[in-house]
Amino acid sequence: MINVFQPTLADEELAAVAEVFKSNWIGRGRRTADFEAAFADHLGVGHNRVTSVNSCTEALFIATRLAGAGPGGEVVLPTVSFVGAGNAVAAHGARPVFCDVDPRTLNPTVDDVAAALTPKTKAVILLHYGGYPGEVVEIAALCRDRGILLIEDAACSVASRVDGQACGVIGDLGVWSFGSTKIVATGDGGMLSARDPELVAQAAKLAYFGLEQFSGFSQAKENNTRWWDFQISSFSRRSIMNDIQSAIGVVQMGRLKGFVERRGEIVSRYDRALADLTGVVTPPPLPRGHTSSHYLYWVQMDEGIRDDVARDLYERGIYTTFRYAALHRVKAYGSDARLPGAEAAVARTLCLPLHQALSDDDVDTTVAALREVVTRRSAAPGSASAAGSAG
Ligand SMILES: Cc1ncc(COP(=O)(O)O)c(C=O)c1O
Repeated sequence: MINVFQPTLADEELAAVAEVFKSNWIGRGRRTADFEAAFADHLGVGHNRVTSVNSCTEALFIATRLAGAGPGGEVVLPTVSFVGAGNAVAAHGARPVFCDVDPRTLNPTVDDVAAALTPKTKAVILLHYGGYPGEVVEIAALCRDRGILLIEDAACSVASRVDGQACGVIGDLGVWSFGSTKIVATGDGGMLSARDPELVAQAAKLAYFGLEQFSGFSQAKENNTRWWDFQISSFSRRSIMNDIQSAIGVVQMGRLKGFVERRGEIVSRYDRALADLTGVVTPPPLPRGHTSSHYLYWVQMDEGIRDDVARDLYERGIYTTFRYAALHRVKAYGSDARLPGAEAAVARTLCLPLHQALSDDDVDTTVAALREVVTRRSAAPGSASAAGSAG
């Protein structure tokens, strides 16, 4: 099976984990500090601007809480968002307000976001679809003008930049994922960054029960007495990373540039090979000054054939998927929004395999299979394409 996502883990990661085993310190410790420092350096921010957590979903919950989302408040997010973002808003008692997206980029425009803001809006949570930064700079300016916090869900955009500035640190808060499908993969893990280091310190406390001091062991080292006593500033959970995950993360950060370069080559190969395929539209070019992490490669086709094409590819050993199912259609969020750009996009879009371990042969196999099934499905009697309406 050619996977749609896949981590790249090798002997170097294994050796780093072996070191952690030997050190006998597998919890949060020196490696986690190293990973946080490496990540902050990669973003180009001070080390006090990031803190790690055990998943990006947890980072979204913490960021939403720090933004003051609660009963009576609203948080705007594109309907093409990760489910954890919708849940973070709803779980805090705030109302998720879903905005539309551009049907080609699947990112919201600044106008889409502006149209959803109300006096009750506490924050905007912005995804960079597939690693494309989108109008993040314009949306950050809009939020600043309106006194609204911008949280960037940068899980797709670990290495995406706009004019050299890293996605995730353009707004007020940013969150990242190191889950198994992500470019930097540690099994599970996440990072949170905030413009204000005080918010980062609060996030770190929220990730550890709301405890005022970090751990009894570090207190003992500082020669304090009764290091087992504690004070609590807020009631929270335990959502920290450990040194096993972080040791993997340190190695992965060193390989990130190479991963993204390889992903870029694969994207160019898909673009070239699919340029002449009737009925399939490839992602639009990146605007000047924007770079992508190339997390997703998405193609768009007639909605009458998309699902069948996915099934046909699966049967040929090629696993594709669609990210991210529209949240305004999920009943539990209670939305009655009509979002035509998103509705068109979610019906027509399919994400092809994209990860740094794909060989050129894998890409060529995928392209050949896509070419064959799209051509056959489009010509099938009764398909909209056969009737002459293919886009
Ligand atoms: C855009 C986006 N945000 C957030 C998450 C949540 O990440 P995690 O699995 O680390 O909770 C994901 C995971 O797939 C994601 O794709």
